[in-house]
Amino acid sequence: MPVHEIRHPLIRHKLGLMRRADISTKNFRELAQELGALLTYEATQDLPLEDCCIDGWCGEVAVEKIAGKKITVVPILRAGIGMLDGVLSLIPSAKVSVVGLARNEQTLEAERYLEKLVPGIDRRLALIIDPMLATGGTLIATIDLLKQAGCREIRALVLVAAPEGIAALNAAHPEVHIYTAAIDERLNEHGYIIPGLGDAGDKIFGTR
Ligand code: URA
Repeated sequence: MPVHEIRHPLIRHKLGLMRRADISTKNFRELAQELGALLTYEATQDLPLEDCCIDGWCGEVAVEKIAGKKITVVPILRAGIGMLDGVLSLIPSAKVSVVGLARNEQTLEAERYLEKLVPGIDRRLALIIDPMLATGGTLIATIDLLKQAGCREIRALVLVAAPEGIAALNAAHPEVHIYTAAIDERLNEHGYIIPGLGDAGDKIFGTR
């Protein structure tokens, strides 16, 4: 499975700021959106272009536009919402498909409680967004759901990934590309990424 750890200086700097224990909700939220935009830039590098002609200020001019492929952004609730505006700042016309998954504490499986996919999702490139790729359970369940809905091209944007989550995703969906700001060391016994960011949802929503 292709994992793209984006080592751009702006990304490394901003992620470093997010790791501070004393970061405010405001700063964490802003940085999650900014990193969402920067990862989107990387994840869309290979979108095909087509030539077209437009009326320019001095007459006809040849320009390029993104060809064909429409995009749906898929935030996984709730933390994925924390990256959504950043992604949409670069792809403002993308449609948004929302997926809600919660862990069943008995089975430890990810269970779906909300699924609001855009019509014609099978013809769109899906960009899943979720700040933390920890065990991979939620991301795998989201990809399962998107594939059931007919999606053929799926990419995932995460701020931080654990090696365990990458391995799980690789086993389940080896063709899905992951774009991440960092591959961290490991998961701890509670399923948190070390060094990670702590609970990203709590930090984005101010519920810690
Ligand atoms: N979810 C988080 O918010 N943080 C982690 O480290 C793992 C899962």
